[in-house]
Amino acid sequence: MDLKIAVLAGDCIGPEIMEQGVAVLHAVADKFGHQITCTEALCGAHAIDEVGDPFPQETFEVCQAADAVLFASVGDPKYDNNPSAKVRPEQGLLAMRKKLGLFANIRPITTFKCLVHKSPLKDEIVSGADFVCIRELTGGMYFGKKQEPAMNAEIGTEDALDTNYYTRPEVERILETGYKYALQRKKHLTVVDKANVLASSRLWRKVAQEMSVKYPEVLTDYMYVDNASMRMIQDPKFFDVIVTENTFGDILTDEGSCITGSMGLLPSASTGTSTPVFEPIHGSWPQAKGLNIANPLAQILSVAMLYEYFGLQEEGALIRQAVDASLDANIRTPEIQVEGGAKYGTKEVGAWIVDYIKKA
Ligand code: IPM
Ligand code: MN
Repeated sequence: MDLKIAVLAGDCIGPEIMEQGVAVLHAVADKFGHQITCTEALCGAHAIDEVGDPFPQETFEVCQAADAVLFASVGDPKYDNNPSAKVRPEQGLLAMRKKLGLFANIRPITTFKCLVHKSPLKDEIVSGADFVCIRELTGGMYFGKKQEPAMNAEIGTEDALDTNYYTRPEVERILETGYKYALQRKKHLTVVDKANVLASSRLWRKVAQEMSVKYPEVLTDYMYVDNASMRMIQDPKFFDVIVTENTFGDILTDEGSCITGSMGLLPSASTGTSTPVFEPIHGSWPQAKGLNIANPLAQILSVAMLYEYFGLQEEGALIRQAVDASLDANIRTPEIQVEGGAKYGTKEVGAWIVDYIKKA
């Protein structure tokens, strides 16, 4: 297969983990005889510094022309504590999601047997937990009408506003994605909302109740988000597929990622109306920049998801096998290394995996 890949490494640890992701991408392509053409493009703080825009038009065009985007992470502390900054690196990510129509964010929450002890939860609660969170990604508060903090003369103080807005077609298409995944898995879909309080959630629930009739083979249940966040740590094995709106999905997937032991292990895919994007779910970890300690596995597993998206299951499986083997061989970055074990760097873990793939 010929694949054109847009490579957006972004900020801080982004370029370091991306280097390993791209090395794995090529190693697998060589092994299976695929032609991969990578085009790098700017995004995030990096792009603000160079061209004043966190998602420049040129980057958009590179993404549009590609078959897939491999994305690392954006964000830089110099923007974090400045609420009045005019442009922020994260706006680049949001612009990419909107412009590429990436309405479905697929975040699999899987546990690795050998890392269960790293979870803050008891082994018996977390072992075997395996669910997918389908997060709506181009609607809700992230993109609804906003008003930045400003003086409101009428009430004599500052105010600000975000609007949690959804239309029926937006809800329908993400629920369809949820059902698609549920049908391929254990046929259990949990719709997470806050329908006891929020009007937007009542739209979600109304649409979901109608659609559930079309999928009698899937068990559809409904859970308020506060309850879901509790259930996720009490009994994560309850879940198979979760579908939820943008903000709830953002929060729940951070929670989900940490129950598995390390955030550095989880990849994600975002799909929609244009080029799909594959990226780790963790952020840009500024404190680790340049230290060669960031875990490249989430980036590498994002490459597996990329191959699988194009129906290249064997390629994806080989990457997953290599990642499992590296963990079993204790070739691990510091945050997941066993006590007293040698700590491997980002580069060394990546190189070990590339080598495994070549020899496989
Ligand atoms: C994520 C991130 C982003 C989000 C930030 C960086 C804008 O936290 O992908 O979950 O809130 O969506
Ligand atoms: Mn997040």
